[in-house]
Amino acid sequence: MEEELKNIVETAKKKVSAVSSRAGFESIKAEITGPNGALTKVMKGMGSVPKEDRPAFGKMINQAKQQIQGFYDQALEAIENAELAARIGPAIDPSLPSVEPGPGSLHPLTKVREEICSIFKQIGFTVVEGTEVETEYYCFDALNTPADHPARDLQDTFYLPDDARFGNVSKKEDERYLLRTHTSSVQIRTMLKERPPLRVISPGRCFRRDTVDATHSANFHQIEGLYVDENVTVRDLKAVLDYFFEQLLGKGTKTRFRPHFFPYTEPSFEVDFSSSHLAKLGSEWVEIAGCGMVEPAVFDSVGYDPETYSGFAFGMGIERIAMILYGIDDIRYFYQNDARFLSQFA
Ligand code: DAH
Repeated sequence: MEEELKNIVETAKKKVSAVSSRAGFESIKAEITGPNGALTKVMKGMGSVPKEDRPAFGKMINQAKQQIQGFYDQALEAIENAELAARIGPAIDPSLPSVEPGPGSLHPLTKVREEICSIFKQIGFTVVEGTEVETEYYCFDALNTPADHPARDLQDTFYLPDDARFGNVSKKEDERYLLRTHTSSVQIRTMLKERPPLRVISPGRCFRRDTVDATHSANFHQIEGLYVDENVTVRDLKAVLDYFFEQLLGKGTKTRFRPHFFPYTEPSFEVDFSSSHLAKLGSEWVEIAGCGMVEPAVFDSVGYDPETYSGFAFGMGIERIAMILYGIDDIRYFYQNDARFLSQFA
């Protein structure tokens, strides 16, 4: 009996450790501990063992069972690991160089931003930068957008927790930090630092609480423009934007201004353009920017005398321009980092 048990355990060890599939495991398990298995048969023979030998015999059987269970557990674990490895594929070595490194290319948004900046630089604008984290003051108050203005609705703005701290953006005690909703905040930062005459543009990332779809993203980019001097008029604004859009979209591009409202400009306009080069647009006039003459209240908040100075400002979305230029119909492509999309701009 003892010999037989030993044999069963030995055989079990060999066979179980050799299985590599679940099916193989189950069939070997049946051979050993199934209803007709070798060990089961020995247990069934218990009845014929003399009474006084039964406790010792029972103990041996239990030991054998435990050992065999140990083999089962090990084998199952190995099988499960192999199954997992098969599912996740071969191990990768992230330190290896890629097979075809390729030359790489600028992101389409970067390309368009650089193109826009270079056009404005040709007519004397300098590029300035603001911060993505802003305070309510720079983003709203100083832009003549008081606390009860709909533009400050919690629904469309990301506020930061009250205890958030940013060393490079100072704020008043009772003010809140937020992610800037537009680059117009840079107008204020620039005017507080410099004196007229001023000609700046400022590209950068903005944030709004928005439902993401083909044309909306909670994170997007704008480019802001600000021109302040003596005797600046709407004619200057129109001339600068006409020049810009013709450079960007080709000769024969036209712009038109439609009356609009922005708290920080008066009068305010929305700008449409029309370009025969962009037949794929479908409609003749396409809205592209917001602009206007700087509201005197904004000059007041930065300490410029509105009697002496006048100026214009404008803002537009970089994604929107890139979508028009490249015929991209879904804003989400810009952020997915899909090499098939990005490599088209190489
Ligand atoms: N800040 C506006 C927006 O996010 C765009 C804009 C409109 C900027 C008029 C301006 C301006 O500077 O004068 O929609």
